[in-house]
Amino acid sequence: MKLSCKKVFIGILSALILTSCGNKSGINSNDPVDKKVVELLSKMTLEEKIGQMEQLSGEGFSGNMVNQIKSGGVGSILNEVDPETVNKLQKVAVEETRLGIPIIFARDVIHGFKTIFPVPLGQAASWNPQIVENGGRVAALEATSVGVRWTFAPMLDISRDERWGRIVESLGEDPYLTSALGAAMIKGFQGDNLNDASSMIACAKHFVGYGASESGRDYNVTTISGEQLRNIYLPPFKAAVDAGAATFMTSFNEINGIPSSGNPFLTKQILRQEWSFDGVVVSDWNSLGEMISHGYCADGVEAAGKGVNAGVDMDMMGYVYRPNLAQLMKEGKVKQATIDQAVRYILKLKFRMGLFDNPYVDTNKPGAFYTEDNLEKAKQAVVESAVLLKNEKDILPLKENIKSIAIIGPMADAPHDQMGTWSFDGEKSHTITPLTSLKEEYGDKVKINYVQALAYSRDMNKSAFAQAVSAARASDVVLFFAGEEAILSGEAHCRADISLPGAQKELLAEIAKAGKPIVLVVMAGRTVEIYKELPLADAFLYVFHPGTMGGPAIADLLFGKAVPSGKLPVTYPKMVGQSPVYYNHKNTGRPAKGNEVLIDDIEVEAGQTSLGCTSFYLDAGDKPLYPFGYGLSYSTFEYSDLKLSANEIGPNDNLKVTCTLKNTGKYEAAEVAQLYIRDIAASITRPVKELKGFQKISLKVGETKTVEFTLTPGQLKFWNNDNQFISEPGEFKIWVGTNSREGLEGSFRLR
Ligand code: GLC
Repeated sequence: MKLSCKKVFIGILSALILTSCGNKSGINSNDPVDKKVVELLSKMTLEEKIGQMEQLSGEGFSGNMVNQIKSGGVGSILNEVDPETVNKLQKVAVEETRLGIPIIFARDVIHGFKTIFPVPLGQAASWNPQIVENGGRVAALEATSVGVRWTFAPMLDISRDERWGRIVESLGEDPYLTSALGAAMIKGFQGDNLNDASSMIACAKHFVGYGASESGRDYNVTTISGEQLRNIYLPPFKAAVDAGAATFMTSFNEINGIPSSGNPFLTKQILRQEWSFDGVVVSDWNSLGEMISHGYCADGVEAAGKGVNAGVDMDMMGYVYRPNLAQLMKEGKVKQATIDQAVRYILKLKFRMGLFDNPYVDTNKPGAFYTEDNLEKAKQAVVESAVLLKNEKDILPLKENIKSIAIIGPMADAPHDQMGTWSFDGEKSHTITPLTSLKEEYGDKVKINYVQALAYSRDMNKSAFAQAVSAARASDVVLFFAGEEAILSGEAHCRADISLPGAQKELLAEIAKAGKPIVLVVMAGRTVEIYKELPLADAFLYVFHPGTMGGPAIADLLFGKAVPSGKLPVTYPKMVGQSPVYYNHKNTGRPAKGNEVLIDDIEVEAGQTSLGCTSFYLDAGDKPLYPFGYGLSYSTFEYSDLKLSANEIGPNDNLKVTCTLKNTGKYEAAEVAQLYIRDIAASITRPVKELKGFQKISLKVGETKTVEFTLTPGQLKFWNNDNQFISEPGEFKIWVGTNSREGLEGSFRLR
């Protein structure tokens, strides 16, 4: 077959590029996809290349969008979720442009598309990777059915400050738990093969350190030491690379003066060089343009240059790449190779997603929304995410002798707010609230006296309080549904006062006067300050924002058809003044002894040093309300017989850790056994505890199981201030237990 000279030239050129690229470019000359990428790239004009680096927000089938696609291409469109429009726009790209490069359609599908799962912080409380993977898979099945093939999740920001609105989107405060659950979410979203039509590519975000925003105020600066960056904030993102995350998103914040969207140390040195990530890096929404506001760039031209030279491949709604990159290249400030590299990653992703072969969404396939299986998985996620924090007088589960219940509060029947933040496509008409489920499923067993009392969480109208108190008086038990509306957490929704908003605190105090047992159920996007109100409640169940199936799950939990197994993925502060507060803190030179005299007990004219000099708050002590990993069950568990495979190990040895776990209670239940270590003395200070393993174990009444963990050499390592990942000889403590404060303690020596 006679090949045209041009084709021969392209073939030779492709071969040259392939062999010259080497692994740095992520191009492998033996990979058929890479061959296609190189061949296509060689045909593209500079304008077409820069067009691929543009991500625009959907505006329907508008003339402007059609022109953008036709005039030089658009790499991706976010927020277009009408399948007909998706296909019409895709048709323009595929059939009406010179090279027919398809568009990736994206959306923030954070904890569900139509079937809304618990918010990520709630899913994290399940400590169950399968629950999180299920949530990702259901979200992908529903979202891809309308043409969304890219989600901007999981959010892997380590979050230690309840004032920060985005703590709700996180998987909590711990690197190990966040890594395990983030990987599970990626697996759920992406499935087994990116080119499957139901695969929705994941996006590890926000790279990096966003959760350290000063004072818990969103978009604020972060100051992070090298060892904290490496030991706390980066590990979940490395786990995301290992889990095959197809994309990364840079974060809005600066770290030590450099915005993450213009920081080559993060997006080239760490992500590309050290971790060999070969996916696409997208900016956050205009985070490139915001480098002007940060005071890091003088104008859009400089922002484009710093972004692309830092390795940010795609500009989400910053409008800085398209107008400036060609000029920057002419001025020699951006190399052709830099642009080619960005476009290679983008084209490679599109080939891997199968978009060139199947660019359109099948609009004839019935929507996968709200299927029985999806709803059942969502309900199970709520059951396993609920954290029982208090249960005195065995008030829960509600017993047979309960003949009437008062259901009171603004969150008992709040279908919109129950879904939580980032539920753009959720439909409140499909949300099943606790009031609905309690009436439908238990209304024949108990009389239900319902008084909303407050119309929404911030409501200050107390006119129905008397009615609420009457309902309490007329009932055997009160179920008080309190919390936050969805709008009070999430992006840009930070609170300096994280107590129950509106008149909820007053309402609870009034209800308590009726003298009936109170079960406090909180739906919120953060661990709200509840310290002063808690004594008024006999039981306290935390359900975050539980999503579509919150009602059926909570009803079953309250009546004992399901047993709580959730554990806190964040430390629960007594007061907001303790934030940021987290379990894996450093010990300091003067740790609290636990016997400190608190403010109400200080003698008048007490001597200045009479209280001792240790690290605690006069008005809050040194402990949070509840520790990381804490959560009760209706059953009880006993840990015994901790055994280590050795008392001393070498730097390359594993250490096997076992103990016996018994269900000593009256209910079949699941317990999350947790493994922690402490490196007692090292060349830099190490946390008082570090989570290194967890297992969720179901046990029948009286059943005993052996819990086994294997501690690997790498798990004893840490990054020091010289950027070295090392372990050092010395003493280690080890615990296996039910939370970060309690457990069987052992020790071993590392040679
Ligand atoms: C937002 C968020 C980011 C989200 C993106 C697209 O500002 O920071 O998490 O994925 O823009 O909506």
